[in-house]
Amino acid sequence: MKTYICEICGDAYLGEEAPSECPFCGARHGFIKAGSEAKPIVNEKIELSEISKKNLEETLALETNANAIYLCMAGKAKTYEIKAMYKRLAKVELEHAVICTKLMGIEMSEIKAEICSDEDVENFKETIKLEEHATDLYHKFALEAVEKNIKIFFTALTQIEAGHTRLIKNYL
Ligand SMILES: [Fe+2]
Ligand SMILES: [Fe+2]
Repeated sequence: MKTYICEICGDAYLGEEAPSECPFCGARHGFIKAGSEAKPIVNEKIELSEISKKNLEETLALETNANAIYLCMAGKAKTYEIKAMYKRLAKVELEHAVICTKLMGIEMSEIKAEICSDEDVENFKETIKLEEHATDLYHKFALEAVEKNIKIFFTALTQIEAGHTRLIKNYL
């Protein structure tokens, strides 16, 4: 076994080979490096520009909200597969929120519970709306970022959330 490190969330993956996506934040294969070579973006302590601060704050709010909504959807899911899938999505979005707090050097605040539908199909439609909105927003934030590590972060998030949309569309 070897140690691999995700350059987006900074978490270590222990395995024979690098995974196709980071199991913690969902970042694509290209962001997962051999332990000795990885330079996680969260380790770069830089002074943030005003625009990046504002965009990271908005991202933090969006990601914590998604975490709460997906936990609700997991609770309402009609099959174990859907429940497990939403629990994982909730964890991935929480990881995105944690990365935001690390980049801003702040503490994570308490997450408020959210409501959702009793029906899986309604929840799938709502999830696609949320993920498409996030994808568009992070694409814009990636273009606006002046710091290299923030640009990389939003580029990775854009890909991850687009992947979530594709995942949910398979269920409709
Ligand atoms: Fe990661
Ligand atoms: Fe996310």
